[in-house]
Amino acid sequence: MKLIFGLMLLKTAACLEFNCRFNQSDPCYAALGHKLNLLMVDTSRYDLKILKIINYNSDDPDCRVKNDRIKENECDLFNNRPEVSFINGILIINRVIRADSGTYRLEVFGSDGRKTTKYLQVIVEAPIGSVEVSIIYSSCGLMRVFCSSDGDPRLFSWTLNGDPLMDGNIIDLDEGTDGNISCSVKNHVSHRQKTVRLRDLQRVPQGHKCSEFHCSFNQPKPCYATLGDKLKLLLVLDPSRYDLKILKRMNNTQDDPVCRVKTDKMKKRECDLFNNRPEVSFTNGILIINSVIRADSGNYRLEVFGSDGTITPGDLQVIVEESSVSVVFVLVWCFQMMFLLGLLGGFHIYMRHTSGKKQEDQQVRMSRFREGHEHTAED
Ligand SMILES: *[C@@H]1O[C@H](CO)[C@@H](O)[C@H](O)[C@H]1NC(C)=O
Ligand SMILES: *[C@@H]1O[C@H](CO)[C@@H](O)[C@H](O)[C@H]1NC(C)=O
Repeated sequence: MKLIFGLMLLKTAACLEFNCRFNQSDPCYAALGHKLNLLMVDTSRYDLKILKIINYNSDDPDCRVKNDRIKENECDLFNNRPEVSFINGILIINRVIRADSGTYRLEVFGSDGRKTTKYLQVIVEAPIGSVEVSIIYSSCGLMRVFCSSDGDPRLFSWTLNGDPLMDGNIIDLDEGTDGNISCSVKNHVSHRQKTVRLRDLQRVPQGHKCSEFHCSFNQPKPCYATLGDKLKLLLVLDPSRYDLKILKRMNNTQDDPVCRVKTDKMKKRECDLFNNRPEVSFTNGILIINSVIRADSGNYRLEVFGSDGTITPGDLQVIVEESSVSVVFVLVWCFQMMFLLGLLGGFHIYMRHTSGKKQEDQQVRMSRFREGHEHTAED
């Protein structure tokens, strides 16, 4: 246990070390908090002045090196930082800080009085910290996998079971996808990666209406889509390599409608399955039905023809559902209207009732008053 802990410490504390030289044409990348070696020139033969270009004037901080030594009283560039040293023509910054970024000018003075000037741009980046993979969204037959990390400008890339996927920190996968997904994050100074089993990730569902459904022919579950919405059916990943035949099982006879796809194109004349519906198209191995109709329900079979004559079949059940959201919405709306109208009616009746009663009361009181008056008059 102690050993593991020690190893972990060692790993997190591992020092990143970067070497740059003043004649390089590329920028010099350094890792924040880590070590940077800046190779100058043969300092036994030359005197040096390193200057950081800030305002292009005499106030810019500089540092003089003579006889392979930093002249402490002529060096306002590193503010006497103890982690900065100069050994054998190499300026060593043991703990790079953000302020070390910038453009430096090196002036080299030869014994003959000649001066040569070299430049170097230093860019400080924070190394990649821990990498986290999560599923932040899962519905509509899709799951959205999210990769996050700290560190400066980062590039994200994914692999699924070793195969590369699209770049970017967010990737959408079919809900049924399983396997080991791995997110790699890199910047100029570091690289980290995290691999997780998709099945083990906590999924956060999002209560929203789907307008696009994604299914694939290798998914074990039926494929659900809502009437009128868009359905994307993944047939194969590499469509240019295969010919395809999609068949809808109706009577299990030769008459069942089919659709053939060759070199990533739907053969219109060999496709009675979709009756030339303009909203059905095929691109990059994906069959897209822009507006699902009820008749799209059913059991489909896909046959993938390899160039070597092999046929790989796949089956998928498509279930087209009513848009339950809108039915519920209409029902709720109806109930709300009924309730409001009811309230209005009730209020109306109440008003009439109370105003009628008031009039009655007034009449009674008036007649009583008159009676009383008459009584007193009689007295
Ligand atoms: C920079 O200088 C070093 C040593 O003088 C030399 O080995 C290297 O090739 C030079 N690099 C470039 C890019 O000129
Ligand atoms: C995923 O990783 C686990 C553990 O390393 C391994 O047992 C499993 O076979 C991997 N699954 C795939 C599909 O590569």
